[in-house]
Amino acid sequence: MTITTQVWDIALEGLTAGYGPKVVLENISTVLPGGKISMVLGGSGCGKSTLLRQIIGLSAPMEGKVLLGGNDFFAMKDAEFRRMRRRMGVLFQDGALLGSLTVGENIALPLREHTHLKEAEVQEIVLHKLSLVGLAHTTALYPSQLSGGMRKRAGLARALVTDPPILLCDEPTSGLDPISAAQMDALLLEMRERFPSMTIVCVSHDMESVKAIADHVLVLHEKQVIFQGSLHNLQETTKPYLLQFLARAPMREEEQGASYPLSEATRAHMHRELELQ
Ligand SMILES: Nc1ncnc2c1ncn2[C@@H]1O[C@H](COP(=O)(O)OP(=O)(O)OP(=O)(O)O)[C@@H](O)[C@H]1O
Ligand SMILES: [Mg+2]
Repeated sequence: MTITTQVWDIALEGLTAGYGPKVVLENISTVLPGGKISMVLGGSGCGKSTLLRQIIGLSAPMEGKVLLGGNDFFAMKDAEFRRMRRRMGVLFQDGALLGSLTVGENIALPLREHTHLKEAEVQEIVLHKLSLVGLAHTTALYPSQLSGGMRKRAGLARALVTDPPILLCDEPTSGLDPISAAQMDALLLEMRERFPSMTIVCVSHDMESVKAIADHVLVLHEKQVIFQGSLHNLQETTKPYLLQFLARAPMREEEQGASYPLSEATRAHMHRELELQ
């Protein structure tokens, strides 16, 4: 298969995924539309990152298929599979920059590993991508010298360095203050404008962010897709779980696991001990 600039839908067909014998997602079929921003929502532990791992090819499905631009990802020959994986841009939760390399070297890494571009060309691409996220002045800095929001933006520049047809982001706004989170949203919208054929999939907990950027929403619950469609349709839902989710209502107690009360005697003893130190 040749890499083209066509728009790639991501289709899941009867996908069952998990770890060892544990099933996390069961018989899921859905399409994340090409050239759009899809947001994957759901409670903690429902399998959002697991879904991303399948799309990135980090683990193979227990059953079913992942189709990228209509091609069965896990049926590809080894070389093609690796080439496909190289073409995916991934923004991990913490930016996942290597602390021992400068920001510029981090962004250059995928190009140095997978291409024979000249050094001047690598530098040109690195500066261009960093400028897209407003960080051209940080090339020589180390990740530890950046703020959390800057690290996420640098992670985005690295995810974008190979002009990926598919960009996957795990919680791009988590841990950011509201202003930095809004900047990240604006940046993702700008990327959608700039690269109209790029298919963007973001996992998020942040409803503000979903409202700001989602073209398409997928909600996971109890191993299933319980909603797929537009944000508008999601807001019109009458399903109790979705209403609870949208209203940020607390879970019922039996869903939160066992509770262990602390006795007054132990608490008082701990306080006395702490006073003595
Ligand atoms: N490497 C692993 N080995 C075994 N089980 C795992 C592994 N990673 C995740 N799980 C389990 O799979 C389930 C789904 O985890 P996943 O990380 O996909 O959830 P999530 O929806 O991304 O949650 P969060 O919103 O907290 O990031 C959880 O029950 C988790 O304990
Ligand atoms: Mg996760």
